[in-house]
Amino acid sequence: MQLAQDRWYVVLSTTELGNAPLGVRRLGLDLVFWRDGEGRPQVAVDRCPHRGAALSAGEVIDGCVVCPFHGFRFNGDGACTAIPAHPDRTLPKAMSLAMLGSREAHGFVWVWTGPTATPTTPVPFFDLEGWWYTGSELREPVATHYTRAIENQLDFAHLPFVHRSTIGRGMDPAMDIETVVDGDHIRAFQRASVHGASIEVLAPNIWRLKTGPTWSFLAMVPVDDQQMIYYVRTYQRWTSWAPLAWLIGTLGRPLTLRVLRQDTPPVVSQPVMETRLKMDEVLVPSDGPIIAYRRWRDALRRELDPWGDRGRRTRRASSSPSTGNTVGSEGGDRGD
Ligand code: FES
Ligand SMILES: [Fe+2]
Repeated sequence: MQLAQDRWYVVLSTTELGNAPLGVRRLGLDLVFWRDGEGRPQVAVDRCPHRGAALSAGEVIDGCVVCPFHGFRFNGDGACTAIPAHPDRTLPKAMSLAMLGSREAHGFVWVWTGPTATPTTPVPFFDLEGWWYTGSELREPVATHYTRAIENQLDFAHLPFVHRSTIGRGMDPAMDIETVVDGDHIRAFQRASVHGASIEVLAPNIWRLKTGPTWSFLAMVPVDDQQMIYYVRTYQRWTSWAPLAWLIGTLGRPLTLRVLRQDTPPVVSQPVMETRLKMDEVLVPSDGPIIAYRRWRDALRRELDPWGDRGRRTRRASSSPSTGNTVGSEGGDRGD
């Protein structure tokens, strides 16, 4: 799957990752997430390097993910630490997982897209000073490419049509949109708006609509080229008292979900594909924020390659037959 390179993507809510390995499809890959010995989330391609079983059906012991097939163990660096059938043999270097960089922050698990091995930038987030998460979260899967979802959320001109019964009621369809791009931050607003509401994408995949004392927040998580999941949250600045904050978020959920589901029919009716600046569409000035997003993304897009030749990763073609590597032999190293 093509993604923006050297960026942190939100892929999970931390509430989804417990003590067992979690197998989910994200970023076009079947991945396994687990917590290592220090409680940090780790993520690898969900395929045992021994004979290809899904690690997510196994368990976590002492911070290692344990394959359910023959009990091989892998630590948070993706290195094999035990082969029960051969406790006294040398562990082959090639017996290691295809790892991705990961972090936990702001209640989410984030994955680094490379190609640089060491993430140098902090995870992106909006300024939380004086704002509190309500703790009320929704997940809404949609059968589209995540770039379609991001563009839908950068689009003012659909409001008086798609949302004519909710947030677009009475809105003038004539639009004069200004777009401001600052690095990975794309902000759009209507020049004539008396409310001053703006929509913002902090690329690669988070968004907010800040209106008075609340923000609506979305993470638009890529599953693969045909599927994405909205993670929907509300932040507010009335109270830091968690029960009341949660109540505020919970009371707003029905409207949030209704508005989000109004978007679904037109969006899934679009061709399900990654958007590009040059594609078979005719854009107009009100698409300015979408053009800015496409320009940002086109400059960074690359195929995510967890088997790439970076320090802690190893390469093995998914379709390759047995390499003949054996425990304790020099041939155990894949050598690339
Ligand atoms: S397939 Fe995983 S230990 Fe054998
Ligand atoms: Fe919408």
